[in-house]
Amino acid sequence: MKEAQLHQLKKWFREYSQSFMMDDPDDQRNLDLKIRHTQRVCDVILDIGQSLNLDEGELRLAAATALLHDIGRFEQYQKYRTFMDSKSEDHATLGTQVLEKHNVLEFLIPDEIRIIRCAVLYHNRLTIPTDEDETCLFFSQLLRDADKIDVYKVVTDYYQIAHEELNETIQLDLPDLPGISDSVYNDLQNKQVVSKDHLHNLNDFKLLQMGWIYDMHFKRTFEIVRERHYLDLILESMPDDPAIIQIGLQLKSDLEHFCMDSIDSAYSKA
Ligand SMILES: [Fe+2]
Repeated sequence: MKEAQLHQLKKWFREYSQSFMMDDPDDQRNLDLKIRHTQRVCDVILDIGQSLNLDEGELRLAAATALLHDIGRFEQYQKYRTFMDSKSEDHATLGTQVLEKHNVLEFLIPDEIRIIRCAVLYHNRLTIPTDEDETCLFFSQLLRDADKIDVYKVVTDYYQIAHEELNETIQLDLPDLPGISDSVYNDLQNKQVVSKDHLHNLNDFKLLQMGWIYDMHFKRTFEIVRERHYLDLILESMPDDPAIIQIGLQLKSDLEHFCMDSIDSAYSKA
C-alpha cells in the first residue's frame, strides 16, 4: 500500500467518524473511546509489525486494517446505543458492510481489499476460519493481537477507576459477585481461551481477558503485555480468592514462557 492511499483512508475515517457526533455527552464519550482505541491499535500494530520486519507497504496495510477494524461501531452505537454485539449485531460484519456501502477500498488493489476485509471480518471471532489463505491469516492474527493489547489498556484503565464511575459498555452486564465459575477455571487450566458461555460474573470476565494470552500469536505481543503489566493490573482489581491467585500465577508463568519461547513464524510474501 502506498503512503498516499493510507493517508486517504485516514482522511475518510476522520470524516466518517465525525459525522456521528452525538448530543448526549455520555454517548459522545463512548464514541470518542472507540476513536482513541482505533488510534492506539494503529500504533500497536506498527510496533508488532516492525518486530516482524515487515516492509513499509506491509506496515501501511497492517495500519489500514487497524484503522478500519471497528468502523462498524459507529453505526452500531447510533442504531442500538450499545457496543454489545449480543444485544445488537456483529460489529465486524457490520464494518465490512460499511466499507462496501461507502466504497472505501475501491482505489486499492484486489489483494489489499481482500486482506482488509478479511482482517476486519475476523478480528472479533473466537477463532479464524482455517481455510483462509496464509496472507489473510497473517494480517488477521496481527490485528487480533494489536486489538487485544489495546483492550487490555482500556479495561485496566477502567478497572482502576471502576469504583468511581461504572460504564456498562466496558463491564458488560455481569454482576460483580465474589469467586469465579468452575468452567472458567477449567478453560484456563487447560490453557484455552475462556468460552463466553461460561461467564457468570465480573471476575470470570476479567479472567477471560487474562486468558487472551492463549490466543496471541507474536512474541512482541507477549512482550508488550509483560512490559505494561496488564496481567498484574487485572489481577489487582480482583479479590484475594485462592482459585484466582492460583490461576493468576499460571497465567503469569505462561506469559513468561511465551516471551522466551515463542518463535514468530516467518511471514512469506505471496
Ligand atoms: Fe472490534
